[in-house]
Amino acid sequence: MKILVVGGGGREHAIIWKLKQSPRVEKIYCAPGNGGISQDAECVNIGPMEFDRLVAFAKEQKIDLTVVGMDDPLVGGIVDVFEQNGLRVFGPRKNAAIIEGSKAFSKELMKKYDIPTAGYETFDDFETAKAYVLTQEPPIVLKADGLALGKGVLICQSQEEAVEGLKEMMIDQKFGKSGTKVVIEEFLTGPEVSVLSFCDGKTVCPMVSAQDHKRAYDNDQGLNTGGMGTFSPSRIYTPEIAETCMKEIFRPTVDAMAKEGRPFQGVLYFGLMLTPKGMKVIEYNCRFGDPEAQVVLPRLKTDLVDIMEACIDQTLDQMDIQWEDNAAVCVVEASGGYPEHYEKGYEITGLDQASQMENLMVFHAGTKQENGKFYTNGGRVLGITGTGKTLEEAIKRAYEGVAVVDFEKKHFRHDIGIKK
Ligand code: AMP
Ligand code: GLY
Repeated sequence: MKILVVGGGGREHAIIWKLKQSPRVEKIYCAPGNGGISQDAECVNIGPMEFDRLVAFAKEQKIDLTVVGMDDPLVGGIVDVFEQNGLRVFGPRKNAAIIEGSKAFSKELMKKYDIPTAGYETFDDFETAKAYVLTQEPPIVLKADGLALGKGVLICQSQEEAVEGLKEMMIDQKFGKSGTKVVIEEFLTGPEVSVLSFCDGKTVCPMVSAQDHKRAYDNDQGLNTGGMGTFSPSRIYTPEIAETCMKEIFRPTVDAMAKEGRPFQGVLYFGLMLTPKGMKVIEYNCRFGDPEAQVVLPRLKTDLVDIMEACIDQTLDQMDIQWEDNAAVCVVEASGGYPEHYEKGYEITGLDQASQMENLMVFHAGTKQENGKFYTNGGRVLGITGTGKTLEEAIKRAYEGVAVVDFEKKHFRHDIGIKK
């Protein structure tokens, strides 16, 4: 089979790393890919939103399966365009990807189908929203309706801060059109867990659980980032909780989407919080998480191509998806200054040495390759994943990798996998 993967971050590198293990795969292309991905796939210089060029490439190269890793093209309807051209593609259609693309949509879905989540109100007028926050007790949670690179959520500690946040979103349009509509939510507390699942529109198969560290610095200090590291499994996600989630959240969501005429086929990501009143949905994503994919996929035993095809063909109920009984930890090596200003172009050393280490994978997120050398080329540069029998072993392994792979102004958290 020939496969095209759309995207170019650490998540796509992990997807390609796993697809490559399938005996069914002859060749993988990645658009646009990155320096490290070019070792495992042929990178093609087409952007993820250039649907016509991607379709033309897939037809020309007789691609058997296209896998879309990123949210933007999915929410923009890339799957519909590929299907209209008779091409096989893994990911939700536009009318299902809206579960991530619009928070107003997902909140309404949860309300209608009684899926536990934070209470909320939706506003598209600044003055009305302002009047509402002036009646609320802080902390006040503001969410831009649309995609905002994971930065569209503000937790405001006072009414003044909330009014300022609303102004930024609705009037100054800091997140573009994403913020013209705003969801204001009840503030919830408790540990968070991410459960990704494979869906074929009818059946939902949860993957092993994971937990993300979103803040830039140790002990959850500093700004929110795309994710500084992850670990799997989560320590709080017991089999009993998993069973309740299946009954109250996972199946009801997939059934609700089908009932609404929006069957979800692809990876549905449940961002959950274990509150004193039970597990609640914080957010849905319509794709693998980044860097959740970097800890979940290394634990997958079953052929990923077979699973993706079952999602497309609606035969997931006939699959027995197997996972390793182990643990994985991914530590992100970022450029100093990320998520704000940072520099690029520093040489990365130690990659050869790391590639000889067992139970260690180096997934490239923001790198470029020139004359056989690798250079930093983004905020999140690498994801170093260690595996082991226990989380403690996996943590040790991941940090042994971090010690080896180096570049100037390298920044990473020292506490990945340790919390809760
Ligand atoms: P989201 O992009 O929706 O995942 O939100 C980003 C982060 O903000 C989440 O991972 C939570 O830590 C936090 N958050 C979002 N919604 C709430 C809420 N209703 N109460 C408390 N924290 C929240
Ligand atoms: N790491 C969170 C996400 O991919 O949305």
